[in-house]
Amino acid sequence: MGSKRMLLLGLVMLLAGPASLSAQDTTARVVKTLRTDWLFMKGEVPDGARLDYDDSHWDRVDVPHDWAIVGPFDEDHDKQEVTVIEDGERVPSIRTGRTGGLPYMGVGWYRKQLSFSGTASDKRVFIEFDGAMSNAKVYLNGQWVGGRPYGYSSFGFELTPYIRWGSTNVLAVRLENEPESARWYPGAGLYRAVRLLVLNRTHIPQWGVWVTTPEITHQEALVNIRTEIATKPPVHAAIRLETDIIDPSGKVVASLKKNLLPVTGDTVSQQLRLKDPRFWSADSPRLYKAVSRIKAGDQTLDVMETVFGIRTIRFTADSGMLVNGRWEKLKGVCLHHDLGALGAAFNKSALRHRLTLLKQMGCNAIRGAHNPHDPAMLELCDEMGFYFIDEAFDEWKLPKTANGYSRWFDEWAERDLTDMIRRDRNHPALIMYSIGNEVREQQQPEGYRVARFLTAICHREDPYRPVTAGFNQWKPAIDNGLADEVDIPGFNYKPAFYGRIRQLQPTWPIYGSETASTVSSRGSYHFPAQRFSMKAWEDNQSSAYDLEHCSWSQLPDEEWKALEDHPFVAGEFVWTGVDYLGEPTPYNCRWPSRSSYFGILDLAGIPKDRYFLYKSRWSDRPTLHVLPHWTWPEKLGEHVPVYVYTNYPEAELFVNGKSQGRKRFDPGELLDRYRLRWEDVVYQPGELKVIAYDVQGEIADSAVTETAGAPFRLVLTADRDTLTTDGDDLIYVTVEVQDRQGNLCPRADHLVNFSVEGSGFLRAVDNGNPASTEAFQAQYRNAFNGKCVAIVQSNGKTGKVFIRAESQGLVVGELTVDCTAKEHYKREWVEK
Ligand code: GAL
Repeated sequence: MGSKRMLLLGLVMLLAGPASLSAQDTTARVVKTLRTDWLFMKGEVPDGARLDYDDSHWDRVDVPHDWAIVGPFDEDHDKQEVTVIEDGERVPSIRTGRTGGLPYMGVGWYRKQLSFSGTASDKRVFIEFDGAMSNAKVYLNGQWVGGRPYGYSSFGFELTPYIRWGSTNVLAVRLENEPESARWYPGAGLYRAVRLLVLNRTHIPQWGVWVTTPEITHQEALVNIRTEIATKPPVHAAIRLETDIIDPSGKVVASLKKNLLPVTGDTVSQQLRLKDPRFWSADSPRLYKAVSRIKAGDQTLDVMETVFGIRTIRFTADSGMLVNGRWEKLKGVCLHHDLGALGAAFNKSALRHRLTLLKQMGCNAIRGAHNPHDPAMLELCDEMGFYFIDEAFDEWKLPKTANGYSRWFDEWAERDLTDMIRRDRNHPALIMYSIGNEVREQQQPEGYRVARFLTAICHREDPYRPVTAGFNQWKPAIDNGLADEVDIPGFNYKPAFYGRIRQLQPTWPIYGSETASTVSSRGSYHFPAQRFSMKAWEDNQSSAYDLEHCSWSQLPDEEWKALEDHPFVAGEFVWTGVDYLGEPTPYNCRWPSRSSYFGILDLAGIPKDRYFLYKSRWSDRPTLHVLPHWTWPEKLGEHVPVYVYTNYPEAELFVNGKSQGRKRFDPGELLDRYRLRWEDVVYQPGELKVIAYDVQGEIADSAVTETAGAPFRLVLTADRDTLTTDGDDLIYVTVEVQDRQGNLCPRADHLVNFSVEGSGFLRAVDNGNPASTEAFQAQYRNAFNGKCVAIVQSNGKTGKVFIRAESQGLVVGELTVDCTAKEHYKREWVEK
């Protein structure tokens, strides 16, 4: 057997379980994602870490895993009596659903067997967690390995000293979530990937490659690569670092070599001038790659791949953001980390689904609220083209919740922030570090000291990126010096004060770190259609006319006008791109509301009307959207306001062929500046039609909504037509209740039963109703305003997936998608 084949065999054995590791095994780097065969127990287990503990009665789960998302929902779960001063409260209120009404609190244990056959070698074994919620305590074979309190931090430990070579090992992780530790749904458990790494004695440690491009012109980019090398005696006689640079088309455009001193650890700098660099931007996300190899003679000791980009981003006080020399506005959204019906259990394909919809809307930026996100968020932003703000904290030393991060701040803030930066600083998508959101230190004369401490850490770890924070107390943040400590202050909900801030601080580049916080429920229209603040309706839904907001927040229209009037503001981040679990403002105290109403997309990922309002403003693609639906049997002869969201300059509305008049935007009236509104349309069933005209006054487009007849069938559409068998790929199947003519029945709430057969399974269901306590993991779901969603996952086998939706009295809906082959375990990087 040739040596090449033997190496391959050694690797496969390791991935499959028992492995022969020895000093002779020259496989450079093996990364195994620990996805399956975890055992889980909710509750305290006094001996849970012990090697010989009998865990045969525990549940078998896959990781990422969120123990709380299965529910059940209950208003008593983490019911919080709090005074939320950020919401303008002066006295406490009892908030139900603040953290989603899900059982995230308490202790949970995970155990997993690992086999390392052979005898101790000079291999070194590490474990990496992309995040664990929360207070992680990690043990191997009953021995303490390490811990990490902050549930959003990525971290890792060396396992080598605790390994029992040649026999079974047990990795055990204890997690504990305190009640009142969050302002939104945090999730629970090993909710992000866990990886095992088997490396050589000499290797590149976690986050050990840092690529910067400090000088960039159109002709040339200076690329600096800083590579850390960890090693242990006996040192190799001669080692060298070889780095290949691969351009966006996949061509090796440079190869660098450096001989290294045989010492026990080093940081090596390499530099090159790259001709004709191809720039990264949100519009054209071109990526380079550095492949770093440590070699001893012919042997590769380690290899690591680092994606980077070449771009310049500059912020100016006068005109906002300049990307590669071009002005660009931030058209951003804030996102929390949960993935709706999947809970916090991270899934890259679920996030890709959301980002795809946001990209199609014209969104170009994401603020990762209010904590480090999964590393795949940054990968996707790099690949798909989004500017990203990496936010570390929602609170510092002054608590917002009784058991929040303030308890860890003194001991852990530096470490958590440093690790976030080291993990993320190669990503071209990353434009700023945010050291905090609406921290209460804004009100403290000494608050600037904490801001200074954190900003200094950011500058130390990455002098090339600006530091920001989201301030909601604009005046105290300025008066108490916090805003001055960051490079680019962000202001939450302050369109009315952009002018004042500039008067006071004309040299500061600024932007809207949180904007709008408009609330709506997809497809629920309330009358009268008029502007309301903190309006709570009987049915626990907020109106889809997009006219309702919080006492501290605004409508999209207000922010846009302020941005037009103050072009020096770099742009905005809407709160939020997608609904999230928890924080059901304005129904904070009114169960069963348990998820937010802020999203442009609902919790199931279905666009609300507001999606088209933002699209009309943010995207160059033609947009023509009419609301509300046109099925109002109880409103015969009454006025039903009709709004059109469009980027055509003019439109005409028709009811059953009768013109209701042509309309153009009216810059003088806030609500007519970006929307076309017909307030006095008399409802008659039939056809509601809008015709759009271009600048020449020619007919350019049209859209029609018909009055729906009786519900007749279920119609299924999927976001993609193939699924890959990598084990976590998902498709989102939207179910519509339609009449015989194919019109959406816009108020249908039928119970839909799902069955999925073949190469997939039903992972979760949702309908975007923020006040539903139905389980996400059921095989059925009621439609909400005519629609619901089935999230279908590949089961790892190739073949077809048959999805069927049934509801009593309706024609069955069916859909078949193909599942194509890919290996189940992803080997992130393997080199012989
Ligand atoms: C802000 C806060 C966000 C969210 C939002 C709702 O004050 O930063 O986390 O609570 O309000 O409008």
